[in-house]
Parts: sequence; C-alpha cells; structure tokens
Amino acid sequence: MVGTSRHRPRAACAAWAVACAAGALGTTSALAASPGPTALPLEFSAPPSCIDAATFRRVLGRFPSGVTIVTVRDGDGVDHGMTVSAFASLSLSPPLVLVCIGDDATIAAAVSAAGSFAVSVLSEGQEALARLFADTGAERFAGTAVSRGTTGLALIDGAVAHLECAIVARHRGGDHTIVVGEVLAARAAEGGRPLIYQLGEYRRLR
Ligand SMILES: Cc1cc2nc3c(=O)[nH]c(=O)nc-3n(C[C@H](O)[C@H](O)[C@H](O)COP(=O)(O)O)c2cc1C
Repeated sequence: MVGTSRHRPRAACAAWAVACAAGALGTTSALAASPGPTALPLEFSAPPSCIDAATFRRVLGRFPSGVTIVTVRDGDGVDHGMTVSAFASLSLSPPLVLVCIGDDATIAAAVSAAGSFAVSVLSEGQEALARLFADTGAERFAGTAVSRGTTGLALIDGAVAHLECAIVARHRGGDHTIVVGEVLAARAAEGGRPLIYQLGEYRRLR
C-alpha cells in the first residue's frame, strides 16, 4: 500500500526524476554494486513514492494478468489458499517461479512458515473460485474440489495448470514478500483457457 503520508511534493519528485534520468544518482553503478538479493538498489528504496495509491492502481490495472490460487499447508496439515495474480516465471535453469504475498494477507503467516507452495492457474470458468479465495473470512476449501499433488499440497481441480514448488528464497518487496519457488512438479491441461484479470474485472480471452 502506498501511504499518502510518504508522498513528496510534486516539485521534489520532478527534481528527483530529472536527476535520475541524468544519471546523477548513479543508477548503473548502484545496480551493479547491489550487495545481495535482499538489498534493493538505492534509487529504488531511497525516495518516498510520488505516486498515490489510486494512480498506482489505475495504471497497473491496465496490465492484464492470469489468476492463480496459491496453496500451502501448515504444520497441522491444514490447507490455506489465496487468490494471487502476482505470479511469474523467474528462471528456466533452475526452474523458478515467484509469487508475491501481502503482509496483511491471512495466508502470510502460513506461507512464511511453509517449505513449499502450489500454484493453480485458474481456467476461464473459475471466476467464482477466484472470488471465493479472495474473500476475507470465507470457508475456502469446504466446497472446493481439490486433488493432492506429489507434495501433498492442494491443487484446484479444473485449473489450466498446476505447479508444486519448494521455497528457495524470500525477499522483502515493500508491503509484500516475494516468495521464490523451485518447481518440483508441473502439469498443464490440454486446450485449457485461462481466466484473465484486468481493470478490476475478470475477463476471458476472445
Ligand atoms: C484478482 C485478484 C488478485 C490478487 N492478487 C494478489 C496477490 O498477488 N498477492 C496478494 O497478496 N493478494 C492478492 N489479492 C488479494 C487476496 O486474494 C485477498 O483478497 C486478500 O489477501 C484478502 O483476503 P485475506 O483477508 O484472506 O487475506 C488478489 C485479489 C484478487 C481479487
């Protein structure tokens, strides 16, 4: 979440943007000298954001994404799952993917304690499931058909793709944690059509 209290006056933002464009903030060297995966380059972490939350959402909403349900199991064997659009392929060798989990998400504690997670890429007919798994307080698994993968994690039946991942890294990213998983198992449904999310609405590929 972008807090309005951290916003800089427009003039200060403009000055920072000009300095950055001119290389005065050492963009290239800061990136090259970045000491490790958990440390963000200075130019990304130093200036408070000039972008208010409404603008951020409106602009980022133009970017269409697929819709997934991420599942984990806690130490008692209880399933936890949440609708996640911040899912991406990261690396081919080794095969890595990432998901971004908000600090305030109910599932966050279970994810931070878990050693693995699964991703079900929803099909175009699964909008109701996407809504259910985004609904705070809803009983998400009671009426949801799942299968168990090789890791024992819940995989949503009818999804167009399933991935099971061992968690290999976690990185801070603002108010989210970027969870990196090495893919242990993956399968795709032939001819499956994915559910799309854009501009705050669920959509289908034409
Ligand atoms: C289409 C869609 C995509 C979402 N993507 C994410 C995401 O990538 N990461 C995240 O932390 N929350 C995401 N959310 C929010 C969560 O699914 C959920 O609504 C929120 O955490 C509130 O539920 P909770 O109270 O059980 O945590 C998304 C919600 C929707 C509707």
